[in-house]
Amino acid sequence: GDTIEIKKGLAGVTADRTAVSKVNVETNSLLYRGYPVQELASTQPFESVVYLLWHGDLPSKVQLKDFMRRERVQRALDPAVVAVIDGLSEAAHPMDVVRTAVSVLGADDADAWNNEPEAVSAKALALFAKLPTVVAHIQRRHRGLEPIAPRNDLGYSANFLWMTFGEEPDEVARKAFDVSMTLYAEHSFNASTFTARVVTSTLSDYYSAVVAAIGALKGPLHGGANEAVMRTFDEIGAPANVVPWLEDALEHKRKIMGFGHRVYKRGDSRVPTMKAALDTLVDHYGRADIAEMYAALESEFVSRKGIYPNLDFPSGPAYHLLDFDTDVFTPIFVASRVAGWTAHIQEQLADNSLIRPLSAYDGVAERHIDGYVADK
Ligand code: CMC
Repeated sequence: GDTIEIKKGLAGVTADRTAVSKVNVETNSLLYRGYPVQELASTQPFESVVYLLWHGDLPSKVQLKDFMRRERVQRALDPAVVAVIDGLSEAAHPMDVVRTAVSVLGADDADAWNNEPEAVSAKALALFAKLPTVVAHIQRRHRGLEPIAPRNDLGYSANFLWMTFGEEPDEVARKAFDVSMTLYAEHSFNASTFTARVVTSTLSDYYSAVVAAIGALKGPLHGGANEAVMRTFDEIGAPANVVPWLEDALEHKRKIMGFGHRVYKRGDSRVPTMKAALDTLVDHYGRADIAEMYAALESEFVSRKGIYPNLDFPSGPAYHLLDFDTDVFTPIFVASRVAGWTAHIQEQLADNSLIRPLSAYDGVAERHIDGYVADK
């Protein structure tokens, strides 16, 4: 009988509880530990947001200072990690390089399998501190440039941009980047976070969960969309081309990257904040063409399909204006989302149950080996 109800893609399935974040579809809002994300993005440095996600409350001044100090002193990469990165093909996708770098960090950590909360926190802070160094290294290697060492006197985002471009960012660039990091940090049971929880649920180790999550984030239906959005902008080329491009894309049943969401059906709560940050960059760099393409593609697609932009739609062109290469956009997402993955890994460990759903078999009916004859 076919009475089993299949929830394809686990759509609409509530798989567990979480205290980390709440997505409210009705009000198009996203709360991190109770705080609306747009309030956090406009008032708090990314480091405070990460502290909040990991500890449940915003830090006191003393707590933040200590957190920042511990982050700053762990930014440098071990030569063994650098050697592995530099040994990979220059053609390797930056997401594959980041995934490999995290795997190397795990293999080099003698205490990798220690899942005590304090041990996981220590690993997470070290990884959080090092990921920008990895991403900046990859970006510079792509451009044939020597890596730049991290600077202890700069905050997370300023140092990230410093190591990437070799210049201290101005406040507009730093703030827009910092806002994007806060917005990307956490989003309940998205595919990569759920992947991290599945791996953790087997009582595997922290690094394995993060490596698996990076693999899930890479896909264009998830984090890879920020990269895909920029490729769309490049393909369109100029605002006047939006309508013919879109008509052709729709005729060929192409997905328009940076639009649609499994949970939000009337707009992504993070978009207005990121769009405002993108607008500051558009003004700053005098790139009205980007804003026009954005507006034209949004209004044309929304009016034709009623499908709204997601966070990747404004963040893709924002990273482009900051001068990142398109294929490092998703690694930047990794550097941020590791904050959310970590909070969920800790939550999973604190109240673990192996994640192991069922499947409804619809293959060939039972048969027996004595009827099998191998070809000669
Ligand atoms: N372009 C064209 N059609 C779309 C799009 C899109 N971006 N998104 C949804 N649709 C259509 C889809 O083809 C389907 O049409 P029909 O019913 O005629 O077959 C209908 O809308 C429902 O879509 P769905 O794919 O069943 O919805 P879903 O909840 O499974 O998919 C999604 C959500 C994010 C996978 C999808 O919207 C998509 O592929 N978007 C483009 C990729 C993207 O931007 N991903 C980023 C997601 S959010 C942030 C992040 O994770 O980084």
